[in-house]
Amino acid sequence: MTIEHLLSPLQIGALTLPNRLVMAPLTRQRSLPGNIPSELNAHYYAQRANAGLVISEASQVCPEGQGYAWSPGIHSDAQIAGWQQVTQAVHDAGGRIFLQLWHVGRISHPLLQPNGAAPVAPSAVQAQAECYVVEADGSHHKAATAMPRALELNELPGVVEAYAHGSVNALKAGFDGVEVHAANGYLLDQFLCSDSNQRTDAYGGSAENRARFVLDVVDATVAAVGDSRKVGIRISPMGTFGDVNDANPLETFSYLVAQLNSRQLAYLHVNRPDWLGGTFEGFDALLSTLRQIYTGTVIIAGGQTAESGEQAVADGLADLVAYGRPYIANPDLLARFKAGAALNPLDGNTLYGGGAEGYTDYPSMS
Ligand code: PHB
Repeated sequence: MTIEHLLSPLQIGALTLPNRLVMAPLTRQRSLPGNIPSELNAHYYAQRANAGLVISEASQVCPEGQGYAWSPGIHSDAQIAGWQQVTQAVHDAGGRIFLQLWHVGRISHPLLQPNGAAPVAPSAVQAQAECYVVEADGSHHKAATAMPRALELNELPGVVEAYAHGSVNALKAGFDGVEVHAANGYLLDQFLCSDSNQRTDAYGGSAENRARFVLDVVDATVAAVGDSRKVGIRISPMGTFGDVNDANPLETFSYLVAQLNSRQLAYLHVNRPDWLGGTFEGFDALLSTLRQIYTGTVIIAGGQTAESGEQAVADGLADLVAYGRPYIANPDLLARFKAGAALNPLDGNTLYGGGAEGYTDYPSMS
């Protein structure tokens, strides 16, 4: 099979991507104490710099934005310095890398929150979901997500500001741009989806109101970065990871995506969060509707292969194709696709936490 479409370059703002492969954002929970990226993380990302674009694992923009032990942050000077090693290593290896801006909202627990507070959310609606905590004695384990506290209207600008600050920090750390994480049941998706957003103010109710907070964050991030082509956004319409459910994804996400057109972003990244299973009935139709509405660059993600990715770009369904699990297990994914070579299998036991094992020791082809 030829993959000529996947191998063609694409311009995003001032960046030339040499191919259409994207390394998807992937939580790996391997930061140092203080949620600081390390030399090990730099090595891992540099191994995968063959992607046209690397998107970092989700990185909390403030301490309240954390839902998993050892996930990296982008709010402290030490974290910026840690990330500098990562961006330097990726650039030295010839790659390009965006940072994913994260706030988990209700997918958290008092053990992860400053002063043991309740996590924050659009509304006080508890998710039937899991986060990952460290106890005072150092032991660590999965935990049920806690009952969140609804953000007051006058607190919203402060959260928006955290995203803007995180994006400025990301540029300081040498990233080529940022991705606003509005997918997978985290804070921004909690605002978008009708069941997790029970607000009666201007940020709840209609699709327009539920999209307002996401657009506030996008606009503040673009203003802080100073170049809309360095800001992308990720969404996961119809996703139920994190116990979100939207009553009308077609209406909600069509509205949001239409509003994004005027922002002239780097890209729209549409994820099908299929790693927990689920049927996603109607997803393909929704995706092609969003593709028709959106006038800019589109990345698709979720269970893609070399064949399906090549077909999607050839058919004009997507401009770029993100690979998650294949990039974890195959640092040289681009070379394997070019050669039509077999892929290393994924080790599900080393995804989260730990060190080099299952992280930087997956073999490249000889
Ligand atoms: C996870 O840690 O399981 C996770 C993090 C971010 C995502 C999805 C899953 O977007």
